[in-house]
Amino acid sequence: MAKTVLVSGGAGYIGSHVTVELFAAGYEVVVADNMSNCDLTCFNGVKKITGREDIPFYEIDCCDYAAVNRLFDEQKIDAVIHFAAFKAVGESVAEPLMYYRNNLVSFLNILEAAKNHGGCNVLFSSSATVYGEAENLPVTEKTPRLPATSPYGNTKTMCEDILRDTVRATETIKGIALRYFNPIGAHPSALIGELPRGVPNNLVPFITQTAIGKRECLSIFGNDYPTEDGTCLRDYIDIVDLAKAHVAAVSRMLDGRMKEGYEIFNVGTGRPVSVQELVDAFEKVNDLKLNYKIAPRRPGDVVAIWADTTLANEELGWKAERTIEETLASAWAWEKSLAGK
Ligand code: WQD
Repeated sequence: MAKTVLVSGGAGYIGSHVTVELFAAGYEVVVADNMSNCDLTCFNGVKKITGREDIPFYEIDCCDYAAVNRLFDEQKIDAVIHFAAFKAVGESVAEPLMYYRNNLVSFLNILEAAKNHGGCNVLFSSSATVYGEAENLPVTEKTPRLPATSPYGNTKTMCEDILRDTVRATETIKGIALRYFNPIGAHPSALIGELPRGVPNNLVPFITQTAIGKRECLSIFGNDYPTEDGTCLRDYIDIVDLAKAHVAAVSRMLDGRMKEGYEIFNVGTGRPVSVQELVDAFEKVNDLKLNYKIAPRRPGDVVAIWADTTLANEELGWKAERTIEETLASAWAWEKSLAGK
């Protein structure tokens, strides 16, 4: 019998891509989402891509313990991938209590319900933000975490620790934290992708919205950093590659291949790309000119971060495959498909 994976936040950007790849790998998926930061566009896209009209969908808030518990009563869950969380760094600085309550309580509820239903394999969606401004690059999973510079970042660090401690104390719970670098791009079908509400904070949605004319001009935040072209360096990971890393991690848990009860993997490409290089590549691959200007640095940005991906490559048997050109073309195809809707 196929194993069932609960994807919390499954109607969102990363969750929808992961749901598609889980089905492709032969798993059954149950989606839970409170729709607080998305509409049905991606969930409907998932149904189209997979040809599955019958995906169990719970419109619940994971902060509601009774609702989460009911879901576990009704479904036999073999693994959980937990995405349901707020993710805007700036907003978290303005509304720390809202971020701590939402991101911590929802995860505690998932763990508690899993524990009360005989245990589970839990995959937590963490972030490279836990490394802060690292001294040595690229960062490995052993690179020390630094104090987070935002409540959002803090919730990632705290949830990692909550998972680690829960695994330590609970024989029936295993855990993996995946630390994502910068996820970008869209599914090749252009049926699912990133749907930011309001003005995008992240670079690629801002680029595509500028290219399509929704935004007037992209600001490159700082060109006086100590890097080759003066702009910041990041490790941009294709969303489909990222989704496949989740399948690899879930299989490792479900097939009993974990070496320890709690494991951590970086999910990136291992290649640093500057903001300027990304903008240039976007223009080139999509054969267009982008309206952009150099603006002051954005407070809180780290100069450079990229992943050492050896552990994920060796232990998960996973590697990023799509080129940055393919990824940027997919982001543009998605933006254009939205304009046609
Ligand atoms: C990338 C680079 C900007 C916008 C954040 C979170 C992280 C993760 C992903 C999210 C930086 C520059 C950006 C713009 C620009 N979590 N930039 N003009 O800051 O690396 O990571 O998002 O859910 O936890 O911290 O990503 O895409 O915002 O920025 O020049 O309009 O692009 O300065 O160098 P970041 P980003």
